[in-house]
Amino acid sequence: MSGRPASGKRRVVVGISGASGSAYGIRLLEMLRATPNVETHLVVSRSARQTLQLETSRTVSDVEALADVVHSSVDIGASISSGSFRVHAMVVAPCSIKTMSNLAWGNTGELIARAADVALKERRRVVLMLRETPLHVGHIESMLRVSQAGAIVFPPVPAFYNRPQSVADIVDHSVMRCLDLIDIECEAAPRWGEASRSLLAAATNAPKRAPSGMSTHE
Ligand SMILES: Cc1cc2nc3c(=O)[nH]c(=O)nc-3n(C[C@H](O)[C@H](O)[C@H](O)COP(=O)(O)O)c2cc1C
Repeated sequence: MSGRPASGKRRVVVGISGASGSAYGIRLLEMLRATPNVETHLVVSRSARQTLQLETSRTVSDVEALADVVHSSVDIGASISSGSFRVHAMVVAPCSIKTMSNLAWGNTGELIARAADVALKERRRVVLMLRETPLHVGHIESMLRVSQAGAIVFPPVPAFYNRPQSVADIVDHSVMRCLDLIDIECEAAPRWGEASRSLLAAATNAPKRAPSGMSTHE
């Protein structure tokens, strides 16, 4: 089934919920903006407006300006709330426990959960960048339920083989892996392969040294 409208563009719905890590959603929008033939639809939850303000120097308007179309999180009549509106995929980045649980248990009164529920019923790809730790059994049950319905639970767990030098490196790597899951090409960060193998070889041959701030007990 094609998620492409007549324009030939791939529509990607981005939900930013109130979990910590609004930088993931921002970077995702930036990378999608740099990708040809992609049309982004953005929904920022009410709580995410707060976390955005707390965690970044961007205003909600700055973030909304990165998207092609912006929907209010309470507009359950928005285009993306209907299965007849074709979309390629949806990503919730970051995804709160609340939004994931709403999706798991059919509480679709807010637009992020409604749009994700619709995408799942239409058998479209849905990626949840779930951000919480530790997890209790209720969280894990919700993770199981959304996975059984076809969503991909993708906690943004950092990679270290690529030797991240900054928070931005860590964010880029997770967002690139997330884009892999929705079949959108992006080479924003080093991948495991020849380049990283030579890094690994260099690390293996180098004299042992502790990560900054830690002592070695050799
Ligand atoms: C600074 C801050 C950080 C938060 N971090 C998380 C988090 O990492 N994961 C989570 O599930 N909720 C987190 N929350 C709580 C959510 O914002 C809260 O559950 C909210 O109701 C989620 O609503 P939403 O899913 O509609 O955005 C955080 C709240 C604040 C203020």
